[in-house]
Amino acid sequence: MKRIAVFASGSGSNFQAIVDHVKSGKLKANVMLLVCDKPGAKVVERAEKEQIPAFVFDPKQYESKEQFEEDILQQLRHYQVDFIVLAGYMRLIGHTLLHAFAGRIVNIHPSLLPAFPGKHAIEQALRAGVKITGVTIHYVDEGMDTGPIIAQRAVEISEDDDANTLAEKIHKIEHSFYPETIGKILEKLEVKA
Ligand code: GAR
Repeated sequence: MKRIAVFASGSGSNFQAIVDHVKSGKLKANVMLLVCDKPGAKVVERAEKEQIPAFVFDPKQYESKEQFEEDILQQLRHYQVDFIVLAGYMRLIGHTLLHAFAGRIVNIHPSLLPAFPGKHAIEQALRAGVKITGVTIHYVDEGMDTGPIIAQRAVEISEDDDANTLAEKIHKIEHSFYPETIGKILEKLEVKA
């Protein structure tokens, strides 16, 4: 069974969806570790409830990204993690982790990339007046939501949608689309020697 770490900064509804898919046997993986850069985030509570170890850190306590990524890497090695899943981790991944986990980091983003990268993708789509937006799962590189696209799902924006209703529609899709796609990727992933 592949061993994954989930990185998250906020509520962690996607973290929960991944854990739930693992618990029901629909996703064949072990969630070894939560990595969170926001002490006090709701996702930390979720990990505790699920008895999943969490590495929670405050980037302000470090002098550089290299330094906190070295600490993360140590944790990932300790738990013998094979694969990293970003689920609302609102921070660019640096070269330390990109190098150690080349081709083994994925992200989910709430738009049809390359449209609306970065923060507030849902609000960006509403402001632009597009009628279709969606969800993108992609490999992570050094850019902001720029790595090779793995899979996408479209979501229609209706006249009466606001940021809340659209976020709800997008989350509903993410919560099955992400675990299913991770499962497909893991099936093909070779375990490192
Ligand atoms: C998700 O909608 C995810 O697509 C988005 O953050 C949300 C996290 O929600 N990610 C990004 O915007 C990445 N640029 P959650 O904490 O409830 O899983």
